[in-house]
Amino acid sequence: MKLTHESAAKFIPEDRTLPVLRDAVQQCHGCDLYRNATQAVFGELETGANAERPKAAIMMIGEQPGDQEDRQGKPFVGPAGKLLDRCLEEAEIDRRKVYVTNTVKHFKWEPRGKLRIHKKPSMKEIHACRPWLAAELELVTPKLIVCLGAVAAQSLLGLSFRITQSHGKIQQAEGFPPILATLHPSAILRARTDEDRHRDTATLVGDLRRAASFLKS
Ligand code: URA
Ligand code: SF4
Repeated sequence: MKLTHESAAKFIPEDRTLPVLRDAVQQCHGCDLYRNATQAVFGELETGANAERPKAAIMMIGEQPGDQEDRQGKPFVGPAGKLLDRCLEEAEIDRRKVYVTNTVKHFKWEPRGKLRIHKKPSMKEIHACRPWLAAELELVTPKLIVCLGAVAAQSLLGLSFRITQSHGKIQQAEGFPPILATLHPSAILRARTDEDRHRDTATLVGDLRRAASFLKS
């Protein structure tokens, strides 16, 4: 058994403001994922870009940056992000007021020809990266967390959590604000038929509408 507990904790500065954390995460060696990534992709709130303690009602948590996010240094700016934007608009949620981040801050991938194919982060990597997510939660203090996909949902709600069974329902977990989990837009993009894609998109939009109405209640 390995006795050293690898984690991001020791890379997190005392001065916890968003700009300071965003700089510091670039130096993180809390797990091996920094080695093959272009940069770390931290969370952001477009309308509070330079705020030290940006407040947002919703924190949306994805899995990890993808190819485009890794290049651009911003979360959800590639194909999945475009789909998310459309679904948010349909659910009448202003993305610029949502703090958007990921469970793991570096892109994990493997080469396939010239492409860099997304690889699911391991539990070890998810745990190692947790202190960054905890620091973001502490600063943003959202009223609701929206988990996109199983990696985010299971990392907060436990490995037995099933999106297929419990999506769109408000969950309570010790030490967290209320959590609602839904489908990951990347999973929708991988759907095999148009019919599946339409159905899954409607599920995501429906769940986002529930998030919006929870915040109004
Ligand atoms: N998928 C994610 O989970 N996060 C991103 O930022 C982009 C794609
Ligand atoms: Fe650090 Fe997270 Fe990147 Fe691992 S994935 S190096 S813990 S920021």
